[in-house]
Amino acid sequence: MQSPLTDPPLRKATWFKSDEQFQLLYPLAMQKLARRHWTSLAITKMVSKFVTPSSGVKVLDIGSGVGKFCLASAYHEPSSHFFGIEQREDLVAHANTAKDILGLQNAHFIHGNFTQLDFSQYDHFYFYNAFYEHLTDTDKIDNNITFSTALYNYYNRYLYKKLDAMPAGTRLATFHTLEDRVPPGYYLAESHVGTLLKFWIKT
Ligand SMILES: C[S@@+](CC[C@H](N)C(=O)[O-])C[C@H]1O[C@@H](n2cnc3c(N)ncnc32)[C@H](O)[C@@H]1O
Repeated sequence: MQSPLTDPPLRKATWFKSDEQFQLLYPLAMQKLARRHWTSLAITKMVSKFVTPSSGVKVLDIGSGVGKFCLASAYHEPSSHFFGIEQREDLVAHANTAKDILGLQNAHFIHGNFTQLDFSQYDHFYFYNAFYEHLTDTDKIDNNITFSTALYNYYNRYLYKKLDAMPAGTRLATFHTLEDRVPPGYYLAESHVGTLLKFWIKT
């Protein structure tokens, strides 16, 4: 495997050949978080296909981490745009560094809280259980944010309302997320990986 820091530039496709190769876009500390916190390339490929039913759509990853989902989706679906909102500034910086190495123009990273975003600017959504860290003492990305059950409940309620307000036809992919986090206006179109990965469409 090659590293972006020590070897000559790779063909873009090479980075997407395996999760191990892709992780070399990031520092070691970020690589170590991958198995627990970042979506695998195989899952991303399935999700990116589902959330791009037509070309030119805008997809939001709610809690985008180091940008793995957005970057791999941008590679596989070049006619759509993938936006990531992430509360941790250092993760956004890692996402932008990887984006520059990959030279992908259709991935975009925003530093902030998802509650600040106008969801009507996006067509479809991906959600990988972003608030789970508030409930566990292990497996945290870092200790640089405030954790609380109250925040967990607040974010879940807020996201529910935002998704509920989206128009018919909105697509949502959830990974490792309880069904009752999704408003009843969305029907379950497909389940994969047991039932860990779910594809929803608003009626
Ligand atoms: C499980 S990781 C998923 C990362 C990425 N979506 C992926 O699949 O590779 C969840 C991310 O959501 C971020 N996050 C959690 N709550 C957030 C909030 N209220 N606003 C923005 N980002 C948030 C966390 O900092 C973390 O990086």
